[in-house]
Formats: sequence, C-alpha cells, structure tokens
Amino acid sequence: MSVKNEVLHILEQYKGNSISGQELAEKLGVSRTSVWKAINSLKVEGHLISGVPNKGYSLSQASDVLSAEGIRPFLNDEYNQIPIAVYKTIGSTNTEAKLLAMQDAGHGTVILSEEQTGGRGRMGRDFYSPAESGIYMSLILKPHLNIADSVLITTAAAVAVCLAVDKFTDQEPKIKWVNDIYIGNKKVCGILTEAVTDIESGTVNNIIVGIGLNVKTVNFPKELKETAGSVFNSDEDSYVRNRLAAEIINNILSMCKTPEDRSFLRTYKERSMILGERIRYSKNSIWYEGYAQDIDESGGLIVFHDDGHKEVLHSGEISVRKLN
Ligand code: BTN
Repeated sequence: MSVKNEVLHILEQYKGNSISGQELAEKLGVSRTSVWKAINSLKVEGHLISGVPNKGYSLSQASDVLSAEGIRPFLNDEYNQIPIAVYKTIGSTNTEAKLLAMQDAGHGTVILSEEQTGGRGRMGRDFYSPAESGIYMSLILKPHLNIADSVLITTAAAVAVCLAVDKFTDQEPKIKWVNDIYIGNKKVCGILTEAVTDIESGTVNNIIVGIGLNVKTVNFPKELKETAGSVFNSDEDSYVRNRLAAEIINNILSMCKTPEDRSFLRTYKERSMILGERIRYSKNSIWYEGYAQDIDESGGLIVFHDDGHKEVLHSGEISVRKLN
C-alpha cells in the first residue's frame, strides 16, 4: 500500500477525530514530510482533511470520496481481503470487470468508479453516471451455477441493494421486475448482470453484477428528470457512499454463497412493486397487457392474460410498466 493509502486508511479509522502528523509518521514508519505530502495528495483528490494546530489532521465526517480504505472497515470480516479497485473515471465498471474476469480475477473482486463516461444499462441503453454523486460498482462472482440459475444473481443483487439502502433511510425502496429499484415513483438504481460463459461445459464461469445507484444525484438530464431519483435529497445525510457500497457488497457476497437456496426470493416478492398489479410489457417490440401474479423459482415473472392463459417472463429483452 502506498503511504497515501496508508494515511487514508488511518484517517478513515479516526474519521471525525484528529491524529497528529507525528503519530501518523510513527504508526507508518515514515517521515513527517511523507505524511504531509500524502495529506496534500489526498486533499487534491477531494478528501476533506483539516489540519488543526496542536491537534493534527482530521478527516471530516462529510468527506465522501469513494475509496477502498473507506469501504474496507465496513466489510464483514470474511470479505475484508477482497480486491477493491476505485477509479476516478472509467468508461464502464462492467466492461473493466469483464476484462479482469477473463484475466482470472477472483470471486468477490470489486470495481468502482466516481464517474462513468460510458455507463451501460440493460437493452443497450446508457446509464447516466455523473461524478461524485452515485455508486457505480461491478462485482465479479464465480457462483458455480448453471446458466438457467444464474438469473437468480440479479434477483439477489436487487434485494441486496434494497436492504443496504434500508440501513441508511426509512424510504423502503421497491423492486420493479426484474432489477430496477424505485423510491416512490423514481428509479434510483439499475442493475446490469452479465455472464461470462464456458460454452463447452454449459456453466457460467463469471457473473458480473453491475450496480448503478444514484445516491445524491440532483441534476438529471431532461430525458431522465421525470423518472430518475436519488436515495438522498438532502446533503446532510448523504455522506455515506463508502458505507453503503460496503453494505451492498456484504449483502451480495453472503447471498451468493448459496444462491440455489433462493432465500432472498421472499424479500424480493415483498419488495415487488408490480406483483398483484396489472402491467404492460413489451417483448420483441410488441406490447401486451396482463396481471403480474408471482415470481417463480428462477426469478421469472408469472403473468396471467385476460383470456386466462399464463406466461412466464424471463428478463432478457423485456420491459415492464405498471398500469394504474
Ligand atoms: C439499467 O438500469 O438498465 C442497468 C444499469 C446498470 C448500471 C451499472 S453502473 C455500474 C455498472 N457499469 C455499467 O456500465 N453499468 C453498470
């Protein structure tokens, strides 16, 4: 770890409290000048560090820069050593994660970025990923599932995000099948799951779960203004991106230990905003109407049509709208 990252690691542990330059230098076995240089680089990166005479350095509670050092203290002990890479800007964390997965990156590797210049959504859409206001994160998972069951990972990820958000707000996010997360009538999170498959064995070697969560985004472009929202609307509560990211990682990694037990499906159904509702859905560019009755064991949506026939929808290229 570089001196800069080591200093940040300690400041994160003291967050809101001061530690002297001397103490930092002693803990790390480096000179005070090295500590001073590290502090300056961290400030340039946007960390809110104040230097208080006779007290030392203090990382403000309001400092909200994503970092491995900021996330790690909030991970469950068993995930404490997972590789975490945090970028200032990147095209797409999912694309980067796929590349790393093909180079044998391990289960639980996490890629995050403060900003994405080519954030990707489902069905070839873009995902708006402005700087310093969201969590754009991809996890590499190796769950040893067959292709059919790997859809369950998306379901688990949606539940993981809802439960993590619950820890910080009382807004009770809801899930719109298959993996959009809403607060009220605004989408706050989208999930893009991509599989890297071994064609010969028919197994999924790597699943990339990409999560785009608007934590405190306020200025959405015109085309998203009506439909997109954020977890926090006031600045005061919103300095929690590292903790929130850690919580999501904890939840996903624990659920993905035994995804085949489907224990998360109950919460998924409880959080569903379309079960028991009339819906419209588009499949191959044709719109249909029906009644969303249940979620099956593989995460498929069971729909009844007015003529009584039943259909199970699988995520793919389907877009669903709730009818009022
Ligand atoms: C959707 O709403 O259609 C899914 C959006 C998924 C966005 C996330 S952000 C992190 C990861 N990297 C990407 O390029 N996409 C996913």
